[in-house]
Amino acid sequence: MSSAEDLTFTHLPHPDPTSPEKRAELMANPSFGRVATDHMVMIRYKEGKGWYDAQVMPRGPLTLDPSAAVLHYAQEIFEGLKAFRTSEGGIAIFRPEANAQRFQKSAERMAMPQLPAKLFIEAVDLFVKADQDWVPEGENASLYIRPFMFANDAFLGVKPASEYIFLVIGAPVGAYFSSGAVTVWVSETYTRAAPGGTGAAKCGGNYAGSLLAQAEAKYNGCDQVVFLDAVKHRFVEEMGGMNIFFVFEDGSIATPPLTGTILPGITRDSILTIASENGLTVREEPYAIDQWLEDAKSGHLTEAFACGTAAAISPIGTVKTREGEVKIGSGTSAGQVTGALRTALLGTQRGRVPDSHNWVH
Ligand code: COI
Repeated sequence: MSSAEDLTFTHLPHPDPTSPEKRAELMANPSFGRVATDHMVMIRYKEGKGWYDAQVMPRGPLTLDPSAAVLHYAQEIFEGLKAFRTSEGGIAIFRPEANAQRFQKSAERMAMPQLPAKLFIEAVDLFVKADQDWVPEGENASLYIRPFMFANDAFLGVKPASEYIFLVIGAPVGAYFSSGAVTVWVSETYTRAAPGGTGAAKCGGNYAGSLLAQAEAKYNGCDQVVFLDAVKHRFVEEMGGMNIFFVFEDGSIATPPLTGTILPGITRDSILTIASENGLTVREEPYAIDQWLEDAKSGHLTEAFACGTAAAISPIGTVKTREGEVKIGSGTSAGQVTGALRTALLGTQRGRVPDSHNWVH
């Protein structure tokens, strides 16, 4: 088996890259994930052969056999990370090492081969280098990078596949939510992940399973769904595609603990670190939905926010259940703590705040 350390990337020339004028038009106000950049990076894997055929190539459609395992048994994992333009005109990628590690953990859970972290980061770097002109300027703008891997065996038996494709694609993006503060729907019908399941893995199946709940949220006039735990249907877990934080009147912050059913968000982890370094009391503890509603009504809870790579830090203005709705804080914009954390996070990502953790790459 060839060593992944020896793998070198072949660069295929792009016959027809997007013109600067067309690119500027596409980047002016992109809706999330709709704009395709010019390139993609691909690495193949085969049992017994290892990682091979690494390429930086023009982005284009894939050809799959109709029995490709991913199409039937959903053996697929992905990551999300962002490249930002810094104030000095450079490009900074935020915490790719953390994404590489989480990708390995997701792979392990889904019985897939683990891509060496060095190769993951090299692939991301080469993608950003090839499409550096697609990294937008602007406080809310970034190049969203989507590494992913799927089972490519042409075989209908149920077993871990022996062939995989790893790809990196990307899209220039603006703010994930268009409104100032999001309205969330607490689903009492659906849960996201059960103990022993795949909740902590970033696999496509978790998101597929969230879509009907997300549709229920939309039907009820909300932007996002909030899931409760699958055992007691009482404790807040996470949202459709992001983690959740609560801010209390004493300035402390809390988020549900990582018990195996929640995605270990890299933005979540960054916020916990930044908040405690800034003197805030931070807690990772279960929070019951009844308590949330009561605390929001009494004013004990002053702010809540969603966080993730795509969402960054987005304030939650209203929480809705079948029984009714409760406003959080002003209900329309970020509160003081949410705003300060957002400023600190965005500042770190864009190189404005000293990076004592070596997060910026
Ligand atoms: C991300 O934040 O990167 C995600 O994968 C979540 C999705 C809602 C885009």
